Amino acid sequence: MSDRCTIGVIFGGRSGEHEVSLVSATSIMGALPRDRFEVVPIGISKDGAWYAGNGVMEFLKRGKSDDAVYPAALSADNKGGVVALDGGRGGVKLDAVFPVLHGPYGEDGTVQGLLDLAGVPYVGCGVLASAVAMDKVVSKEIFIARNIPTAPYVWFHASEWRRDRDAVTRRIEEALTYPLFIKPANMGSSVGIFKVKDRDELTAHVPESARYDRKIVVEEAVADAREIEVAVLGNDRAEASVPGEIFPSNEFYDYDAKYVDGKSKDAIPADLSEETIRTIRRLAVEAFSAVDGAGLARVDFLVSRADGRVFLNELNTLPGFTSISMYPKLWQASGLPYPDLLSRLVDLAIERHREKQELLTSYQPKIDWHKG
Ligand SMILES: Nc1ncnc2c1ncn2[C@@H]1O[C@H](COP(=O)(O)OP(=O)(O)O)[C@@H](O)[C@H]1O
Ligand SMILES: [Mg+2]
Repeated sequence: MSDRCTIGVIFGGRSGEHEVSLVSATSIMGALPRDRFEVVPIGISKDGAWYAGNGVMEFLKRGKSDDAVYPAALSADNKGGVVALDGGRGGVKLDAVFPVLHGPYGEDGTVQGLLDLAGVPYVGCGVLASAVAMDKVVSKEIFIARNIPTAPYVWFHASEWRRDRDAVTRRIEEALTYPLFIKPANMGSSVGIFKVKDRDELTAHVPESARYDRKIVVEEAVADAREIEVAVLGNDRAEASVPGEIFPSNEFYDYDAKYVDGKSKDAIPADLSEETIRTIRRLAVEAFSAVDGAGLARVDFLVSRADGRVFLNELNTLPGFTSISMYPKLWQASGLPYPDLLSRLVDLAIERHREKQELLTSYQPKIDWHKG
């Protein structure tokens, strides 16, 4: 029997970031060291159907493949991650899973919950951290409770805006100064995000943002902001990489600047003072611990060019993961090459799973209450 670890790599998914996930997963599957890992590709289509087999990546991209593709299902009954395959292949037992899913239905705790029920170790944050980090309102409230600085904000339900727009506008203008950013609470990739300079623009753009979520965050723009990102790796005693800087090709780091025009640049390490680097790395680890992070996260900061103040912008539990994405590049620059980073993430997943397995799941009361 081989002592290689069988690892399921899950990609695709019901998300606006489906395509990004396919690119990340292709890089990961290409780089997982084959002397340690046997890779089982598992793809989720845009409408949520699960498939496995060697042709699954091509199948998701082109709707067909000459290689094998089987409908697949992950059993939730704590058997340790058995992917049942149709097509007479029976089941494959997974030793660990790498969920390479960005955005809703993947990065938000839903798939992590299924993997917990299945009893299989998985890379990255658990249900709580994933769900908290996905919600810009809840995560901000947790960061504030830990004295981690974030830009001043107001949040409201889209229904509140529809009912009494003037009251919400008053609340925003009493608390914040233009220019402002409007964001759906649960999205990513800058989808539905607008920068507005006055009340007219605010009024025009809130309804557009509200097409993506029932909760809206309005936030003060950090003046002349630099975009600084840090990679965190570890479980209870996580570490932060050197910080990197993004130079967006547009006024802010919007969808086009991220994925379309290919003109955004980056610098690793970021050109910052020793003191700012220390502050950012400390805040990144504190934020990771505040949401009960595990495995990995990329923590993004905005640093004001005007006065050097540092604000935590957001924590991403499944950041872009191609070999040229910021997260792996930051570790590369900190002395950890991509394949070693992948191995380390799987080790962390197994370590955390073992720790959870050792916890009691039942309690023996002194009096047997079944007998009354
Ligand atoms: N308060 C802010 N001040 C300045 N720029 C901001 C602010 N909030 C967001 N931005 C800009 O908008 C981009 C996307 O916002 P972000 O909150 O990171 O959303 P997403 O989760 O979609 O990445 C940021 O990378 C930054 O360029
Ligand atoms: Mg962002």
